[in-house]
Amino acid sequence: MKLVAISGGSRGLGLALAKGYLEAGYQVVEFSRSAPHAFSVPADFSDPEGARAAVAAELGRLAALEYQEIVIVNNAATVQPIGPTSRKEPAEVLYSLNVNVSSAVLFLSEAIRKFQAHPCRKTIVNISSGAALRPYYGWSLYCASKACLETFVRSVALEQGAEPHPFLAISIEPGIIDTEMQAAIRASSEHDFPDLKRFVELKRSGALRSAEQVADAIRSIVRQNHGNGVRYEVRDFAG
Ligand SMILES: NC(=O)c1ccc[n+]([C@@H]2O[C@H](COP(=O)([O-])OP(=O)(O)OC[C@H]3O[C@@H](n4cnc5c(N)ncnc54)[C@H](OP(=O)(O)O)[C@@H]3O)[C@@H](O)[C@H]2O)c1
Repeated sequence: MKLVAISGGSRGLGLALAKGYLEAGYQVVEFSRSAPHAFSVPADFSDPEGARAAVAAELGRLAALEYQEIVIVNNAATVQPIGPTSRKEPAEVLYSLNVNVSSAVLFLSEAIRKFQAHPCRKTIVNISSGAALRPYYGWSLYCASKACLETFVRSVALEQGAEPHPFLAISIEPGIIDTEMQAAIRASSEHDFPDLKRFVELKRSGALRSAEQVADAIRSIVRQNHGNGVRYEVRDFAG
């Protein structure tokens, strides 16, 4: 049996990954607020301790079994609030950091803890963004979160090198995907996000990849990967 655990697999890229892995015969579990699928477990990543408890309970149950392969995908994220952080309410700032950083770190750490002793091929996949490397006006929290997680995952890769049954830990920049996250970006204002027109034009001109295209490329990267701490870009693997 092969296992995939995905955060934010209710829709968008996470759902496309979940469906691709299900079709390939993997057991799939996804964690999200709406939890609409048979393979869903409810978890609200804006509440890090509550989400961690839900993740720990489910992964603890799954860790009692043996697997030929385990893939853990840190995918859940929010681009909100859009606009300079100094103009945002403290609660909005904490919401973003809780979803994108605290809960993501706790999700990956629980997965490592629960499956560390499993001797099969194991991969941690951090879904990152170009925003991890370059700043965008109005996305300061999102950019900082993505950079933080990439650095976290590179350090995890180093730590795993010392384990008898290590995970490989990689980050993947997926490129621009036609999902609700892009719709939320297009629904923002030029006041908060001066690059808005370019993103509207990217959608109008058909430049966005579908979630299914990107998920196929990510599954192929994970299959081929032998490196630890590597950063991949989907545009090098997708048409
Ligand atoms: N779309 C793009 O162009 C793009 C570009 C670069 C990187 N990415 C990255 O790709 C990944 C997937 O993005 P996407 O475009 O598929 O986004 P999306 O369509 O907005 O989906 C986000 C997923 O995260 C979950 N999620 C959001 N807030 C949550 C919370 N508080 N608790 C638990 N789950 C939560 C959502 O589930 P619920 O709403 O059911 O909770 C949903 O399943 C993200 O890491 C994103 O940063 C996207």
